[in-house]
Amino acid sequence: MSEISTALESQYAELRAKNLSLDLTRGKPSPAQLDLSHALLTLPGEGDYRDAAGTDLRNYGGPDGLIELRQIFSELLVIPVDQLLAAGNASLAIMHDVIVTALLHGVSGSVGPWRDAPGLSFLCPVPGYDRHFAICEALGIRMIPVPCVDGRLDLDTIRRLVAADAGIRGMWAVPMYANPTGTSFSVEEIEALVRMPTAAPDFRLFWDNAYAVHHLTDDEPVVIDVLAAAEAAGTPDRPFVFASTSKITYPGAGIAFFGASPSNIAWRKHHTAVQTIGPDKINQLRHVRMLGDAEGVRRLMRAHRAIVEPRFAAVLEILESRLSGVATWTTPTGGYFVSLDVPHGAASAAVALAGQIGVAVTPAGSSFPYGDDPDDTNIRIAPTFPSQADLESAIDALCTCVLLAVERMSAE
Ligand SMILES: Cc1ncc(COP(=O)(O)O)c(C=O)c1O
Repeated sequence: MSEISTALESQYAELRAKNLSLDLTRGKPSPAQLDLSHALLTLPGEGDYRDAAGTDLRNYGGPDGLIELRQIFSELLVIPVDQLLAAGNASLAIMHDVIVTALLHGVSGSVGPWRDAPGLSFLCPVPGYDRHFAICEALGIRMIPVPCVDGRLDLDTIRRLVAADAGIRGMWAVPMYANPTGTSFSVEEIEALVRMPTAAPDFRLFWDNAYAVHHLTDDEPVVIDVLAAAEAAGTPDRPFVFASTSKITYPGAGIAFFGASPSNIAWRKHHTAVQTIGPDKINQLRHVRMLGDAEGVRRLMRAHRAIVEPRFAAVLEILESRLSGVATWTTPTGGYFVSLDVPHGAASAAVALAGQIGVAVTPAGSSFPYGDDPDDTNIRIAPTFPSQADLESAIDALCTCVLLAVERMSAE
């Protein structure tokens, strides 16, 4: 055994002896971040249950969601207020429901239900968000991975595939601070996506703007208006926009949004009218009372940043000091994740080694359709939830596991 191997094996044994119990898996806000929205627990408060128009929000009705809340997020998401619905607590549920509706009924402009489309498939830029892929897998939609090139969309491949295959009806897209790479689309990329000719007339971009206001630096870019770009390109119905307050206020007790062209909104409302007589408007009112206006959201997000920025900085610093020259990683300017690429073939071994010493890391491959990272290279790191001290120990331990996995591989 080489000296390096011996040193790494003994570092690993020391870590094992510590009986660690650390978790780097899910991108959840930390308790300190949740405390920022503490006021929600007592709002709207005794006797406060009417909107500005005087409507009693305790009752059924208001299928579009509270106008005051939609106005706030209309400004932040850059979507006209009458093209933005405020719904339940999870944008993933809307994505799932939109796809189920498309499978059963088609979307506006479809010739029939998507389930009847031969070779029904979605394009999946990778690495991407595991839960997007889980929806497709659960609903039997074939996924076509499109690897990003130097962190950017491979537009040539995307254009070629959608132009040739009418079975491709959708593409997942996280336009800002993507999960897990942290990259944001440029105006040129967005214009290419709304302009590209598609063999399917009812092709949709599943535009998940989950991190639109989640900046990590002083640069706070405004959202690029995909609906206006699509309108200008003559494809107004192409984008379905999703967002939520999950990582603004409370995941699980926040508000989710759906934005789209007028005809898509009409399509969505036609189908949701069968499901529900209206969303939880009291929760929406609670949010209006706490957030106030778009500037209130921006202020809140800066308070989030003050908590999470040091965590991201610590992750990057430890990666730099321990894995420089061995692995590469992203330096996100927003969002919730750092994406680490280790030498090919080492990711699952490193994650398994981490698991054996009590450091839970998202399974290698989860950022790929069917959990299949063909190069076994990508590891997603979620820095927000653990305490700073736990995070630092966990990343340091993960680095040891990566180095040990690489060392063992080269010894084979
Ligand atoms: C890209 C992306 N979209 C959606 C979600 C979940 O959103 P919601 O809580 O609104 O369902 C997440 C959570 O990690 C995410 O990373």
